[in-house]
Amino acid sequence: MSEVKIAPSILSADFSVLGEEIKAIDRAGCDYIHIDVMDGHFVPNITLGHDIIKSIRPLSKKVFDVHLMINPVKKFLNKFIDAGSDIITIHHEISDDVLDCIKVIKKSGCKAGISIKPNTKEDILKKYLNFIDLVLIMTVEPGFGGQKFLDSQVEKIKRVKKLINGRSIEIEVDGGINKSIAKKVVEAGAHVIVAGSSIFKDRNYKKNINDLKYLDSDV
Ligand code: DX5
Ligand code: ZN
Repeated sequence: MSEVKIAPSILSADFSVLGEEIKAIDRAGCDYIHIDVMDGHFVPNITLGHDIIKSIRPLSKKVFDVHLMINPVKKFLNKFIDAGSDIITIHHEISDDVLDCIKVIKKSGCKAGISIKPNTKEDILKKYLNFIDLVLIMTVEPGFGGQKFLDSQVEKIKRVKKLINGRSIEIEVDGGINKSIAKKVVEAGAHVIVAGSSIFKDRNYKKNINDLKYLDSDV
């Protein structure tokens, strides 16, 4: 099995020193930097937008993994592309034409991801599989960090792995993941783990990242 990638969610970072936080998780060895964009409409919370992404872009060469929990999406895509996103993930549950949005993302050279909420059936992914680079499975209701992992999603990860059927699409999981849960989701098929609270819970970012990455050891 290839090594799992770790994507700290900066939603749990200290926003008063966001630049320092970005540099610290970069130094601590993260793979992706997961950026949760929320609009207070698609989800009941507001976070940050493309201008902030643009301002932190020069601070790290790591993959900027942008998770858009906004609706509508299409009219804002170019802003997130220009801000320096590497992966742009949009939700299946938006009102824009999702395939259209995927086309815009792919044409820009960014990777495209599709996310599904816990109650969305994975079968709907079929129509996207030939166009996307990543599936983001929400393991909590999107909106807030620090929620409890929904165990029901472990079987969904396995079913998504089957659906993907060897295509080069990464499975990313997001919400409520700590070391013991990381083991379950990786066994089920996850390639990328998003984690907010379990990485930013204290200043030991390197240890917290390694705890999720090297699941069989006590590093
Ligand atoms: C929730 C976000 C997640 C969240 C993860 O809507 O998409 O990325 O911040 O945070 P934890 O790991 O604390 O659940
Ligand atoms: Zn997220």
